[in-house]
Amino acid sequence: MEVPFSRPYLRGDESAVVARVIASGWVSQGPRVREFEAAFAERVGAAEAVAVGSCTAALQLALYVSGIGPGDEVVVPSMSFIATANAVWQCGATPVFADVDPRTFNLDPDAAEGAITSRTKAIMPVHQLGLPADMDRFLDLAERHGLVLVEDAACAIGATYRSRPIGSLGPLACFSLHPRKVITTGEGGMITLSDPDVAARLRRLRQHAMDVSDLARHAARDVVIESYPERGWNHRMTDMQAALGLCQLEALDEILAERRRLAERYSAAIERIACLEPPCEVDYAERTWQSYAVTLAADAPVDRTELMRRLLLDGVPTRRGVMAIHREPAYAGTAAELPNTDAASGRSLMLPLFAGLTDAQQDHVLECLASHLSAVAA
Ligand SMILES: Cc1ncc(COP(=O)(O)O)c(C=O)c1O
Repeated sequence: MEVPFSRPYLRGDESAVVARVIASGWVSQGPRVREFEAAFAERVGAAEAVAVGSCTAALQLALYVSGIGPGDEVVVPSMSFIATANAVWQCGATPVFADVDPRTFNLDPDAAEGAITSRTKAIMPVHQLGLPADMDRFLDLAERHGLVLVEDAACAIGATYRSRPIGSLGPLACFSLHPRKVITTGEGGMITLSDPDVAARLRRLRQHAMDVSDLARHAARDVVIESYPERGWNHRMTDMQAALGLCQLEALDEILAERRRLAERYSAAIERIACLEPPCEVDYAERTWQSYAVTLAADAPVDRTELMRRLLLDGVPTRRGVMAIHREPAYAGTAAELPNTDAASGRSLMLPLFAGLTDAQQDHVLECLASHLSAVAA
């Protein structure tokens, strides 16, 4: 049996919806993007949402409008996708890596506080794999030290922290709409925030800081000569992507429920497989289960890469756990000791999980895991 690792969840009506956008002739950033922003903001309980081309672009713009630039340090976890650190570098600032909580794989607030120096301007917790970071601690930390707080919420659309949606808690949260995420627009990102002036600036910066939007120009009854009060980027989302995003938002609750069901099914079975530890339970948050990562015991009969290789031969693709950015050549020599990050990153792996994975496929994954790690009687 061949099991896909991940697939976007599509209900079947998306092609017709996107085709209508194409037929309208307005295929670039326009009315559908505005509609998608409004629906996204409402869904996460934010006053404003600004659509951009990717979460990486969202993070970079969020840092930029917060005044982060050359000479500044931003505290981030090393245990994250490399985009977290790249967004800091794209602003000309320096990512400073702090260790994670070994249970949740999220940035440890105490470690983050320990990494603060006189040059620190911002802190960027990541809601890793859709599990909210300890936001009360980070909001307090940012306030006490006078730091900007930007959330890397790439995997966290639909997650809640103490019953409040991610996107409604901090000043700036950045989401990804890449196909490996909970919902997708092919590529895409969203910044949620409460300040309308900052939102307006972000909408300008994503189109080279032009002070007239395409929508405003289209609606104008007179000649419009635009101006560029500052420099910016092209980080636009297209209306075709936004139309797909609107369909995806409608399916979000269905997707989250199915991911949760599959994750619970995995965890119940993995309790009985030797040398494998399921993801931790938390009572303060509802996670999205963007990925399902298990931890392999240090004394397992096979190492992680060999286990992944054997599973692949069984038709079960897996992925290594969340990377340790400071272990990549691109960031070599930039971090002190990060023992929790090294251990968690080196021994975890992600199993197939997506809305649409069948119980039979999931059972196959579990049987293969048990056969390589020798099942313990239930
Ligand atoms: C934690 C985290 N941050 C940022 C990103 C970047 O997202 P995008 O591909 O939309 O730029 C990802 C994507 O995998 C991610 O997992």
